[in-house]
Amino acid sequence: MKIFHIVGARPNFMKVAPVLNALSVRENVQQTLIHTGQHYDVKMSDVFFHELGIPSPDVNLAVGSGTHAKQTAEIMIRLEPIVIERAPHIVLVYGDVNSTVATVLVCAKLGVPVGHVEAGLRSFDRTMPEEINRLVTDQLADLLFTPSEDGDENLQREGIPAEKIFRVGNVMIDSLVRLLPVAQNALTQKSKNDGLPERYALVTLHRPANVDDGVTLKGILESLLEVNRDLAVVFPAHPRTRQRIADFGLNPGQLRVLDPLPYIDFLGLQSRATVVITDSGGIQEETTYLGVPCLTVRENTERPVTVSMGTNVLVGRDREKLRAELSRVLAGKVKKGTVPPLWDGHAGERIAEIVVGQQSRARSQVGST
Ligand code: UD1
Repeated sequence: MKIFHIVGARPNFMKVAPVLNALSVRENVQQTLIHTGQHYDVKMSDVFFHELGIPSPDVNLAVGSGTHAKQTAEIMIRLEPIVIERAPHIVLVYGDVNSTVATVLVCAKLGVPVGHVEAGLRSFDRTMPEEINRLVTDQLADLLFTPSEDGDENLQREGIPAEKIFRVGNVMIDSLVRLLPVAQNALTQKSKNDGLPERYALVTLHRPANVDDGVTLKGILESLLEVNRDLAVVFPAHPRTRQRIADFGLNPGQLRVLDPLPYIDFLGLQSRATVVITDSGGIQEETTYLGVPCLTVRENTERPVTVSMGTNVLVGRDREKLRAELSRVLAGKVKKGTVPPLWDGHAGERIAEIVVGQQSRARSQVGST
């Protein structure tokens, strides 16, 4: 059985690793890993492959940055001949990035089955490019692997037949479970060397809605400078955010602005943070698993289970709300959460079981006709 995995951006890498591992112990499975090159910086890509133990990609499409249309189209143009030539039995895509939607568009038209890992998430906000990617991907994919019940409900409401939907849990948490002990150990060493404060707020920001507008970004930086008076702000900045700070001539003052961090360093920092302030999707989930308070600088989330069950609070861009929630955290009144069902480190194995099982069923049906 020939399986393709297509990844392109940083949040894909921690999701593909457990699925690759789980499939590698299956018989008669031949895996091909294709990197679209959407993320290309060493700190946004290579270091994740290394730390997560992902083999080097068999193919790199090297598309690089561009407008959404250009990036998506470039991936489609470069991927199509490879899919035609190598004829995989199934292609697995991850998350909600441009690489995900580009792949499903190519495969659906070639009649190649696609499995979508992390299906069914919805923010109901179509101004987010990721929401468009999720809607299109889920309509076209053949197997939909969801992390939580809300995912199943969203898909069924959109008319996806129940037999295509498989609730497997959260595959990103598989990587976290595996590497948390390594990350905590690395952090202990690092804090000794780097003088990391005992208590700190860990910050990440990269959503276009937050960083691409000068007035909005200035407002957020001012809020963070306010936070920094009570709690040291550690801010590993996405290249896009760093660029925008420079473009708009903004001054991050006393904030500890760092380059993007490798997976293990970042996980270690998350696990010991007093609070995490973010607009990322995956970090809302990781903090819920870790039981660390998370203040999300967005009006909505496609991961509502992190709010209903976990430690996540949506603060939007409301400075008063951020201030109020931060005071609660500093006063020790943190939101106590629980870990959602099936976020247990075994989602990759469940996906492997289903992918291999579906293929043998398809083969036996062909055999019986
Ligand atoms: C992409 C995903 C987003 C995900 C994020 C994680 C889409 C639509 N968005 O957003 O869902 O949360 O990745 O990081 O797919 N850049 C570099 N080096 C790199 C990559 C990007 O400098 O290795 C800079 C470039 O200036 C580029 C910009 O970042 O134009 C944006 O990169 P892009 O891949 O378009 O989107 P992200 O904001 O990273």
